[in-house]
Amino acid sequence: MKMDGVRVVRRLEELYLCGAHDGGAYSRLAFSEEDRKGRELFASYFRALGIDPLTDAAGNIIARLDGEEGEKGEKAGAPLPAILIGSHLDTVPGGGKYDGALGCVAGLEVVETLLSSGKRLRHPLDVVVFADEEGARFGSGMMGSGAFSGASLGDFSPTAEDSAGVKRADALAAFGVNWKEMGKAARERATVLCSLELHIEQGGSLFKSGTPIGVVTAIAGVKRREVTITGEMNHAGSTRMHDRKDALVAGARFISSAPEIVAAHGDAYSVATVGTIAVRPNAVNVIPGSCTFSLEIRDQELPVIERIDSELERRLRDVTEASGTTCNFRFISSTSPALMDDGVKNAIIKASEEAGYSCSLMPSGAFHDSLTLARSFPCGMIFIPSVNGVSHSPEEFSTEEDIQKGCDVLLRTVLTLDNTGLQSGA
Ligand code: GLV
Ligand code: MN
Ligand code: MN
Repeated sequence: MKMDGVRVVRRLEELYLCGAHDGGAYSRLAFSEEDRKGRELFASYFRALGIDPLTDAAGNIIARLDGEEGEKGEKAGAPLPAILIGSHLDTVPGGGKYDGALGCVAGLEVVETLLSSGKRLRHPLDVVVFADEEGARFGSGMMGSGAFSGASLGDFSPTAEDSAGVKRADALAAFGVNWKEMGKAARERATVLCSLELHIEQGGSLFKSGTPIGVVTAIAGVKRREVTITGEMNHAGSTRMHDRKDALVAGARFISSAPEIVAAHGDAYSVATVGTIAVRPNAVNVIPGSCTFSLEIRDQELPVIERIDSELERRLRDVTEASGTTCNFRFISSTSPALMDDGVKNAIIKASEEAGYSCSLMPSGAFHDSLTLARSFPCGMIFIPSVNGVSHSPEEFSTEEDIQKGCDVLLRTVLTLDNTGLQSGA
């Protein structure tokens, strides 16, 4: 049985074109028209195989390949739990071709390869496209996988707005998703054997070391805030420097101190990022009256995230007090770090060895749907190299050879898990 890496790459290209915007940029922000096109194209690949995917209450697309001993299997008996392969199709603004889409298309490729070889799995196989993983539009990510895992939906406010003022609940409604009903997407734990996600590394370790496969051990947690500093709008020509309460100057002081706070209070994997900023009134001759920016902290340990968060808040209060401005340090979302399951990791290692590919155990600094899924289900992730470690960029690239290897390992992992279930022993 051979996975068709060329077909995977072709489909990634086709999906990328769904995100085309005027002016040559490519994005498929969650619940946008481009996302709709991508989701429809993806569902159409399954329909061509005779599988009609369903959409759950959170907008996740689920395509099922029945198992021999599954709920609808020929051999009637106790239904077996499903093996899940999932990732996301939404992207960050100006994102690349591989982040998320690779995991979805690889899941489709496993189904197509099994169907064309006539091999029946014992377990049902669910390929899942999780809705709004990136959180780039409304601020908090992993929404579909959160609902699927039965997590509290408190981080996904229906009134959160995107940059155009569209509310989350309205964007969801345009896709037939009722925010109040999203909890119904929660999947019973007993119906899932385990979840697998193939993803690009989004960092440079595999690429630098020439290792084709990464086996993820743990995924960093992430805490997001929205910070607003309020000063005084005034005339940029006639207000003397010592009379100003410039919100942006205070913001700049705070933001530029973040790296030293992370260095002093974090560890090797700690990161903090300000990725968006809005200045009001945003005019060339007006002293900024307020600035609002995102703040994101990540680490492999929750106490480290909390320590950096407190130190950043302390610095913010010092900076604003000294500049006569005020601040609001608003909580947006928090997801704790998660360990991947030993049984799934062992199956991935075995699959890599059988395929003759070297692999490295490694943590993930990027988050993934597997982070939130791991609260409820045994999860494992396979990484392949990102050329030059670039991701969340149009320059994101993984070679066809590495994609082929990742797909081979994914299929072999599915076959191993289908055969032996989860084997946690060393
Ligand atoms: C998702 O890709 C993230 O780590 O931001
Ligand atoms: Mn991403
Ligand atoms: Mn991703």
